[in-house]
Amino acid sequence: MVTTQSLTSAIGLEFADEALETAVLAGLEAVEGELRSAVASADPFVTEAARHLVEAGGKRVRPMLTLLAAHFGDPEAPLVVPSAVVLELTHLATLYHDDVMDEALVRRGAPSANSRWTNTVAILTGDYLFARAASISAGLGVEAVRIQAETFARLVQGQIRETTGPREGADPVQHYLEVLGDKTGSLIATCARFGAMFGGAEQKVVETITEFGEVFGVAFQLSDDLLDIASESEYSGKVPGTDLREGIATLPVLYALDGPPSRLRDLLGKGALTDDAEHAEALGLLRSSQAMAQARATLDEYATQARALLATLPDVPARAALESMCDFVIARMG
Ligand code: IPE
Ligand code: IPE
Ligand code: MG
Ligand code: MG
Repeated sequence: MVTTQSLTSAIGLEFADEALETAVLAGLEAVEGELRSAVASADPFVTEAARHLVEAGGKRVRPMLTLLAAHFGDPEAPLVVPSAVVLELTHLATLYHDDVMDEALVRRGAPSANSRWTNTVAILTGDYLFARAASISAGLGVEAVRIQAETFARLVQGQIRETTGPREGADPVQHYLEVLGDKTGSLIATCARFGAMFGGAEQKVVETITEFGEVFGVAFQLSDDLLDIASESEYSGKVPGTDLREGIATLPVLYALDGPPSRLRDLLGKGALTDDAEHAEALGLLRSSQAMAQARATLDEYATQARALLATLPDVPARAALESMCDFVIARMG
């Protein structure tokens, strides 16, 4: 069951307003119910594979953003909950696929689908979830279908560009930040947009909250990348150090590579750190590095920018809740 306490510990959400809290918890319960029924199939194995990560939990940041954004209009409007379901299903599908690409073993504190079954099962279950999302989005109307499709195209291109790396001569930090906007900011922006849009908020509010979602999404992914270095797995529900092992150069790595010569720079220069001893050494050095501090400062800048966008919105209780989420992306870094 979704409780205030679980939300506060997962995403730092603080409700100063009781009516908002009641409405958001009820909305999340409705999302949970629809998610479960959305992934049910006539084939018991498909249902099991698709429910695996739904039931493992997750923070539900995206549905939360949709529900909160709806409070800038009518949060009871009938398409708010289905739109949140469409986007959480889209997110879930990308996780099934992402864990295949990253060869990740753990997701949401449970074995990833690829490790529990096979890559084939994980890929096809992800496809099945996309299909279920598409089917539900048909009920949201043509504009939403188009926005969802464009969002997903952007997300996938971000994932591709992460894999291909920056073009010859391009700035790696710039490239990295663009990848974050595409692979994560895009979907989170659409979550906020759908909430405001289906809640019938004013056009200006829809635009600002979409922009907020984009910037918040970059901050969220940046803090996820920093957590991959800083956290213990019990906290993130994933295996820390996965990015280093896969040779995915996240922001602190890029800053370190651009810094003065050091043992850390030599290790990171090797690319994917598959040797256990080198991996552990690099992780330890990175945790206490200047590059890590610099990356935290960049995270602060994005969170501050996200907060500044919120400050231009009407001062409803949902705004304060969104502000608390901005603070949390920084606070969860410890
Ligand atoms: C994981 O997203 C992928 C990123 C964009 C960082 P979340 O951190 O929202 O994952 P869940 O939904 O809580 O599992
Ligand atoms: C995943 O990025 C982003 C998407 C699924 C679009 P990551 O690879 O950084 O996410 P985690 O760390 O596996 O959750
Ligand atoms: Mg991954
Ligand atoms: Mg990835």
